[in-house]
Amino acid sequence: MRARNFFALLTPSPTSMGGNVDYLRYKTKTERPAMQASFTVNGRPQQVDVPEDMPLLWVLRDILGMTGTKYGCGIAQCGACTVHLNGEAVRSCQVGAYDLEGAEITTIEGLGTPDAPHPAQEAWIEMQVAQCGYCQSGQIMQAAALLKDIPVPTDAEIDDAMSGNLCRCASYPRIRAAIHLATTKIGGR
Ligand code: FES
Ligand code: FES
Repeated sequence: MRARNFFALLTPSPTSMGGNVDYLRYKTKTERPAMQASFTVNGRPQQVDVPEDMPLLWVLRDILGMTGTKYGCGIAQCGACTVHLNGEAVRSCQVGAYDLEGAEITTIEGLGTPDAPHPAQEAWIEMQVAQCGYCQSGQIMQAAALLKDIPVPTDAEIDDAMSGNLCRCASYPRIRAAIHLATTKIGGR
């Protein structure tokens, strides 16, 4: 049983890899007008030619090769795809390319660095929040947006802000604890 599970993990599938099922639909649809968009991702200028309604999620993952942002549902129900757009947490599966011109986007790849992690990233590691990890980039991006708006959130404010980010491994208690820990790190800086 253990070996079978191990090899299952090594076999990519559209779902396990945060897959490109929706993107392939875009590629196979016809007559979808293309457009050019210029924006920044993690401070670096980017320019893409894509179908005008291609979701930002697919622009990041399949055009720019930034796979830290995950595909969970594609319908704004899970939060796995959360990034920051002009400083606000958004579901990247719901942002069309037509909204990207001039935008400033931050993804999990640009939130912090190994040498200078974001306080939420530090707290996540110290609290060992992740289980399978699939939802966690979205969780951290949502938490970082919360901490920017409310540096010392209450439990109720945390629960409210994080309620749209689902975790099938049920890491919610550790997520809440990590956000509280992150507030102490922010206060100490
Ligand atoms: S993939 Fe965007 S909210 Fe689930
Ligand atoms: S850690 Fe597995 S889905 Fe959240």
